[in-house]
Amino acid sequence: MNLVLIGFMGAGKSEVGKHLAAKWPGKFIDTDELIQARTGLSISEIFEEKGEPYFRKLEKDVVSEVAEKDQLVISCGGGAIFDPDNLKNLKKNGVVIYLRAPLSVLLERLKDTSDRPLLRSHQPQLEAKRLFESRKDGYEKAADLVVDTTELKPEEVADLILTYLGDEVV
Ligand code: S3P
Repeated sequence: MNLVLIGFMGAGKSEVGKHLAAKWPGKFIDTDELIQARTGLSISEIFEEKGEPYFRKLEKDVVSEVAEKDQLVISCGGGAIFDPDNLKNLKKNGVVIYLRAPLSVLLERLKDTSDRPLLRSHQPQLEAKRLFESRKDGYEKAADLVVDTTELKPEEVADLILTYLGDEVV
């Protein structure tokens, strides 16, 4: 079984994923990192030079590949599950875990980053709000498990997930 982390940018998927993988049999995989390693381009460069549809195609290929494996901790880019094929593939052998936090907390966590091409607008906070509002119900619906990360450190989120999963993971 794979553990699949989903949620908005800034949710802490990569950080939590690394802590989870330390206590999980298989490796940690970050779909964005895999895309960057394979193309030799940053996510921002892919968006700028090739456009979002091209990124989504790369993401779909990577998701379908990693979803076939077992015992991984998979951190998905914030938009990945909105492609129904991606979600279907990830659910075949994965527990989908939504790392939830209010927009204000996500924005605080994102404030020093520059590698989120979707928020590169004149009004990044408004853009983030628009995107968050359009997606939050989708994250909830897609999830087998929801963890509110607002007050927790990444390591605490990871431990909570393992506790929730309980006997299923042993
Ligand atoms: C995206 C989120 C990013 C990255 C890309 C698109 C999105 O990943 O995949 O910039 O559509 O929300 P993170 O959620 O890891 O920031």
